[in-house]
Amino acid sequence: MESPEIVSRIAEMTEHLEPMPQIATKVMEMVGDPDTSCEMLASTISRDPALASRILSLANTPYYRRLASITSLNTAVMVLGFGTIQSLVLTIAVGIMFGGATARKTLTQIWEHSVATALISETLGRRLALSDQERCYIAGLLHNVGKLVFCKALPDRFKEVLKKSKSERVPCFEAEKNQFGFDHAQLGEAVLQKWNLPDVYRVPVANHHELAALEPTEILTPLVHVADRTAYEILGSEDEQKSPLDPLATERLGLKETEVVELVSEEREVVSENLQLIARL
Ligand SMILES: [Fe+2]
Repeated sequence: MESPEIVSRIAEMTEHLEPMPQIATKVMEMVGDPDTSCEMLASTISRDPALASRILSLANTPYYRRLASITSLNTAVMVLGFGTIQSLVLTIAVGIMFGGATARKTLTQIWEHSVATALISETLGRRLALSDQERCYIAGLLHNVGKLVFCKALPDRFKEVLKKSKSERVPCFEAEKNQFGFDHAQLGEAVLQKWNLPDVYRVPVANHHELAALEPTEILTPLVHVADRTAYEILGSEDEQKSPLDPLATERLGLKETEVVELVSEEREVVSENLQLIARL
């Protein structure tokens, strides 16, 4: 439990954060409603032409493309399905909020790490035959949203954090606690609340570095932890001290260490082929 002082410092950090764009919230709401049809979802998205054209571009990247080419939003919704459309809308909305292709180097690196973690989380969800793989993608996408907020709001102090993480060989979240009194996981949880995102994402965002106190049934958090570590293996972590893979995570998922090593080599290609396209729209 955070002290009242930390709670108010976290609230201060999220006070000026942009709200989640209404269209993204609306799409998430519609996707969760069994009465929503493909036409209804496509027509809602088409009210935002910038979002609609980005969805079409993303739908035609090698990672998502299922047909020769997808030229209408209606087809994109029909072919890709509601869950994937929701993942795409969220990727675009959060990407725009944190500056997309024009962002500073560190912000771009954190964003690319987030997208890579999302892609790997989805693969892991598929491999473990979980029923809701889009949920895995979104949890991976959002796991370090607190870092994006730190880096955007306080770039110099965050640079200091990264420097200390490197020089003192402590994981980034520990260096953040020393600098700010709280870490990106705690901040991320507050961001999700501010954006009114479903509670299912709160636990992986808040606990992806602290697995010991998890409920025995919680799967999404260890899954994001493994995907997060895998993304670091693939993209490197030159700016900060790498923290190790927690064996609790693999144990909870029923994965062997060799399977994680395999995952790193298999996902290397997927991530390197698709990351730039997806993270830079
Ligand atoms: Fe993290």
